[in-house]
Amino acid sequence: MVLNLGDQFPNFIADTTDGKIDFHEWAGDSWAILFSHPADFTPVCTTELSAVARLIPEFTKRNVKPIALSCDSVDSHNGWIDDIKAYGKLSEFGYPIIDDAKRELAVKLNMLDKDEIGAGGLPLTCRAVFVIDPNRKLRLSILYPATTGRNFAEILRTIDAMQLTDKKRVATPADWVQGQECMVQPSVKEEELAELFPDGVTNVDLPSGKKYLRKTAP
Ligand code: BEZ
Repeated sequence: MVLNLGDQFPNFIADTTDGKIDFHEWAGDSWAILFSHPADFTPVCTTELSAVARLIPEFTKRNVKPIALSCDSVDSHNGWIDDIKAYGKLSEFGYPIIDDAKRELAVKLNMLDKDEIGAGGLPLTCRAVFVIDPNRKLRLSILYPATTGRNFAEILRTIDAMQLTDKKRVATPADWVQGQECMVQPSVKEEELAELFPDGVTNVDLPSGKKYLRKTAP
């Protein structure tokens, strides 16, 4: 299944380290981040799950529930969580890991990396990130190869940007972080500016003379 931005994210029932879940019910009124892993007890994955456990207060502040997926069993995940907590010096783990030992979800959600073959001779699951909004729409997807660990500060940054642009007709510039100036979306007409942006808009002068780069407070 190829998932495009704006698609309804498919529901599924799965065993997890927090028991059996219906994904849409589990997500409830929150945003959700589903992030996948090739296998338990592997080095990059251990650092990533530890990083997400450390960031739980940041996800909670933004009404986001993380859920991991790894192609091993719940029993294996439960053993691995001890390593993840020890590596990150964490007392809590704080989110579920999906059992995908049969790779059913990895196949369904198109998360296999054909260039990374595991010890068993099968393609490994790549490091997929799916950000799903409270309407269960897919809002962002990024695929990383198995050998490249993710930057979760960047994932939080994209959530900040999406939550801002859901509220205001703005777009965020390169390397934007929360609190910085953003820009008026190109679809906003000149005559709408005063009502939509009462605190003002600054046009950036460019050689073309076109007034399309309009900065405003976040
Ligand atoms: C890792 O998590 O370290 C890893 C997993 C599969 C391939 C390469 C690295």
